[in-house]
This record gives sequence, C-alpha cells and structure tokens, in this order.
Amino acid sequence: MPATKDRAGRGRAMPRPFTLWREVLTAYAAPALTAGAAAVATGQRDLAVAAVTSIAGTSAVVAFLVGAWLRNGGRPRRWTTDLPRAAVAVALVVVAAGAAALLGWCAARWLPAHPLVPAGVRPERLRIDLPVSAALATAVITLRWRSAVGHGARPPLNPPGKRGHPMIVVMGATGATGNALLHSLLALGAPVRALTRTPHRPIPGVTDAHRPALEVRYADAADPGSLRTAFEGASRLFLAMANGPAQVELETRAIDIAAEAGVGHVVKISAPAAEPDSPVAVSRGHHAVEEHLRGLGTGHTVLRPYAFMQNLLRLAPAVAEGVILGAMGGAPCNYVDCRDIGDVAAAVLTGPDTAGGTHVLTGPEAVSHPELARRLSLLTGHRIRYVDLAPDELRDHLVRRAQMPAWLADHVTEIQQLAVARPEYPTGDVARILGRPPRALDAFLREHRDRFRR
Ligand SMILES: NC(=O)c1ccc[n+]([C@@H]2O[C@H](COP(=O)([O-])OP(=O)(O)OC[C@H]3O[C@@H](n4cnc5c(N)ncnc54)[C@H](OP(=O)(O)O)[C@@H]3O)[C@@H](O)[C@H]2O)c1
Repeated sequence: MPATKDRAGRGRAMPRPFTLWREVLTAYAAPALTAGAAAVATGQRDLAVAAVTSIAGTSAVVAFLVGAWLRNGGRPRRWTTDLPRAAVAVALVVVAAGAAALLGWCAARWLPAHPLVPAGVRPERLRIDLPVSAALATAVITLRWRSAVGHGARPPLNPPGKRGHPMIVVMGATGATGNALLHSLLALGAPVRALTRTPHRPIPGVTDAHRPALEVRYADAADPGSLRTAFEGASRLFLAMANGPAQVELETRAIDIAAEAGVGHVVKISAPAAEPDSPVAVSRGHHAVEEHLRGLGTGHTVLRPYAFMQNLLRLAPAVAEGVILGAMGGAPCNYVDCRDIGDVAAAVLTGPDTAGGTHVLTGPEAVSHPELARRLSLLTGHRIRYVDLAPDELRDHLVRRAQMPAWLADHVTEIQQLAVARPEYPTGDVARILGRPPRALDAFLREHRDRFRR
C-alpha cells in the first residue's frame, strides 16, 4: 500500500508542545524584558525593580500554578478541554486576577510599615502589578495549553466506537507487546485498529474470525500523513516502537499527531530506569518521550516492563550449544511475559479506573543467569552453563560473532550492567492492575520446551 499523502496537516503548523518549565521561563522573561525596557526608556527606577521582581515573579508563579492545574497530572478536567478556550481563559483570569488583587491590596497596605522594605521601593505598585501580571500570565498560559492539547472541544476520554466501545489504535501491532495487546483486546471484544508498515503481511495470530472487531491500517511513524489518517476517530493509542536511533523522534511525533487528532489517552511502552541520566541510552530516550507526553497534557499511562520472557526464545541456539553468555554475574533479573504486558495495557485502555500513572511491570520472581542455566538444564535434560564475560568482551562478542549493530550491542551490554547495579526485584504492579499474579518464568520455559531442545 502506498504511503498516504500528508493532507490534513498541509498549511497548518503543528502546535508547539506544552512543557511547563519552558512556559514558566517565558512567563518570567517576557514581562521582565518588556517592563524592564519601558523602565529604561522612561527612566523609572521603581518600574525597573518591579519588572524583575513583582511583575515577572508574579507572572512566573501564576503561570506555574495555572499550568500545573490545567495539566492535572496528564488527566485534564473535562470542562477545561470541552468549553471554548476563550471561556476557559476568561474564567481562570477572573479567579487568578481576583486572588492577586486581594494579595496586592494586602501587601500594599502592610508592607510600607515593614522595616525591611528598602527606601525607593513603592509597595503601592503591587495593587496594580499583581493583578495585571496574574491576568496576563493566566490568559497566555491557558491559551498556550489549549492550543497544545487540541483545538475546540476535545472528545470525551471514552467516546463510543462502532459497537459502543472506544476505538483503540495499536502501534507496533506486529511486535512483541503490541501483538500481545492486540490479542488481549480482541479477547475482550474491543474494536481495535492495528497499525503496521506492511498491512499486506499477516499479523501474527490474527485470523478471519477476528476481522469484525479488527481494522488493519498502514502507518509509518516516519510518514506524518499516514499517522493522521490512522488516528482519525480514535480515542486511545497504544505506542510501542522498535528501538533504534530515530525512536525518540518517531514516538514524539506520533504523540503530537495523536494529541492533534483528539486521542484522549496514550499508553506508552517505556523501559526501566527511564531517567535523564540513566546509564542505558535507550532508557534516556524513553525518559525524553515520557517527559514530552507529560508536558502535552494528553491523558497517558506509562508502562515500564523489565526484559521480556519472549527474549529468551532468542537464546535457543545458544541453549542448544550448552552455553549462555552474559555480563551480569549472579545479578537477579526479572523477566516479564509479554502477554501480561498486553493484559495490563488492555486493562488500562478499556477501563477508566486503571488509566494513568507509571507502572513497572515485572514477573513474580527475579532469577540470576546461573540459575536460569540450571533450570534450562533440568528442562532440556542436557547441561547448560552460564559463562560470565566482562562487559567489553560481551559487546565484542555481540558485534563480531552475533553480527549485532553496534548500538544494539551497546544496549544489551548497558541493560546487563544496569541489572548488576540495580537488582530487578518484583513489583506488585501487574497483580494490582490485573487482580492475579503475573505469569511465572518456569511456566513460560515449560510452554516453550520444544524451542530449547537440541
Ligand atoms: N525487549 C525487551 O525486553 C524490552 C524491555 C523493556 C522495554 N522494551 C521496550 O519495548 C519497545 C519495543 O516494543 P516491542 O518489543 O513490542 O516492539 P518490537 O517487537 O521491537 O516491534 C517493533 C514494532 O514497531 C513497529 N515499528 C517500527 N518502526 C516503525 C515505524 N517507523 N512506524 C510505525 N511502526 C514502527 C513495527 O511495526 P511494523 O514493522 O509492522 O511496521 C513493530 O510492530 C522498545 O521501545 C523497548 O525499549 C523492550
């Protein structure tokens, strides 16, 4: 299927994402510079002092308070997105300016008598500076936020699809987690739109019996027009994307386009240690995407699974040769079954009570790799050893012998080092969301015993 042309976006600039700290910085800098310039031009010393203190300070504080209130932790209040944006701005301006006027009036009354107020400062300015700064900051931040989360009235979080359910779009439907989710959703009878760059190819596990509830569509995150078409009429999005050098850019763009299309909730697959200074480069990328999602104001849930049990199937050739290599020593590793990730994502996408927050998804136990080798030996009936390498040796082996691209070999090595630094003990997140324990490693290995046989 040919790539869809970018029609919807032609001639219309995408709104700049709403990142609170940047908005607050702007709310400080803009009045400080304009009022400061006016003070210099007119030679008013008290205006120059006020420009960088009460005027810009009030503006920044109000922008922070109103911006955080509007975002509401990624789950905006319905009326703030449904009413016309001018009405929301006016309502908030009246409240913010009223509160600031009261504060300014009290300060102007009591500060002149205060011994710490330096000579030359005119506290009576506060009666005007505070409400005016608060009103301007509130108007600007409200309009900025609304332009970032979407134009006009936003659809409710759970608008009915064809069969009374919300339409859920699954990106990465041919991948490990997206495919598991697809089957969880189909089992629940929820209408699903599965996205892939190759819709002519069969999607694993999908049969004609699934067709009534399933749409398969072409979409490539590198082709914005295809995403706009794919997100039309959707209320929720599952976002999983293969690791790679362009992952952050592709995911960020998909999130922006989803917000623009009125998608009310995004479930993003992230990774453990998604932190700005994470030792794992891919996790730093996930952190950047998570931050972008949080800043946008769209409802969202972040799932941070540990390594997938399904990854172990790639060890089959090594298991057949009797040697598993790694650089984790005896560090406990926690594998989670992709089917549990799919079930959790399906619960989040179909049930309003489970949506929101960040969840670290694990299996029920952490197992060291020497122990994994012992269990595989018992399972297969032949001896399998775990051989521990230095991180550089492992990386070298992955590049030279396993022919991995360098970035992927780095990723595997970094992940293993992370497991050494931060042992992967189970969290209760899967059980809390699903009301049942996560699938066990031994059950997974038994289920796939034939794959590990010589
Ligand atoms: N593997 C692990 O143990 C592990 C652990 C924790 C977190 N994670 C995270 O999980 C994520 C990967 O999830 P996964 O394993 O489910 O994915 P995956 O099996 O690697 O599948 C990747 C999916 O991404 C889609 N994709 C790739 N490029 C695309 C593009 N340009 N536009 C649209 N779709 C694209 C592919 O769809 P098509 O080819 O059909 O288009 C495919 O379905 C990664 O971000 C990784 O960091 C992985």
